[in-house]
Amino acid sequence: MTGFNDQVVEEFRQNKGKLGGMFEGWELILLTTAGAKSGKRRTNPLGYLEIDGKTVVVASNMGASGHPGWYHNIRHDQRVTIETGTETYEAVAAIPSGAERDALFAKVVAKDPGFAEYQAKTTRELPVVILHRLDDRVRGMGDFLVEVHEWLRDELKTLRKGVDDIVAGRADSLTMEKSLRAHCVSFCEALTKHHTGEDRGAFPMLAQRFPALAPALTKLGEDHVVVAALQKRIRELVEGYVHGESDPVRLRDDFGALADELEAHFAYEEKTVVAALNVTAPAPG
Ligand SMILES: [Fe+2]
Ligand SMILES: [Fe+2]
Repeated sequence: MTGFNDQVVEEFRQNKGKLGGMFEGWELILLTTAGAKSGKRRTNPLGYLEIDGKTVVVASNMGASGHPGWYHNIRHDQRVTIETGTETYEAVAAIPSGAERDALFAKVVAKDPGFAEYQAKTTRELPVVILHRLDDRVRGMGDFLVEVHEWLRDELKTLRKGVDDIVAGRADSLTMEKSLRAHCVSFCEALTKHHTGEDRGAFPMLAQRFPALAPALTKLGEDHVVVAALQKRIRELVEGYVHGESDPVRLRDDFGALADELEAHFAYEEKTVVAALNVTAPAPG
């Protein structure tokens, strides 16, 4: 089969996506995935459908009892490359589940009843996969997340400068302590809201659609717990701060620890989930 597969891939590339013989008239793409175990890139010719402006493929394996290899691969790494014969682009493979999967499969069958026959041949539920083209022109939810991080980074920087000023005895420190307290509360509330939104909304949704992201999402959730503990300590210090009595150096150290933890967390989050998040929804206006 591998020899045959390679032959079809070669013919596809040579003839700009037009194939003869048994594939005459088929709508095919080449899907390249990273091997789940080897990490080696593998290319498969695949029938696809255009549904609601999206490229959709079905892990039918022609009704065989096991999932095709490429489906296992995208469960380990959602990043794929698509060739249409006339262009090549990077995409993210999402796996809808539940009612969303069923509705999509119904549309697949309405376009090509052959998939109902494949489904009838096997007890496994045929997975339907959406290949989201990575498109820089559209501002997505991932870009929005980066913007929120930027804002939080800036706020934290301002807060730390305020604490430094108190430690150094610059300007009117009583006024500064008051504004620091108010600022600290609003920052902590914004950060908590952001992380709660991720824990309850974005992360469970991502884990379902992109199984490959599960380990990263677990780590990010653990980071949130660490950040929350640091925040709690800082809030206690700020709220219990007595002018002229409390030691601002402790506050400065805790802010430093929070800043380091957050910087590492934001960076890892941006590296791991932004691309997938971008294709799930457009950014709010
Ligand atoms: Fe986060
Ligand atoms: Fe975040």
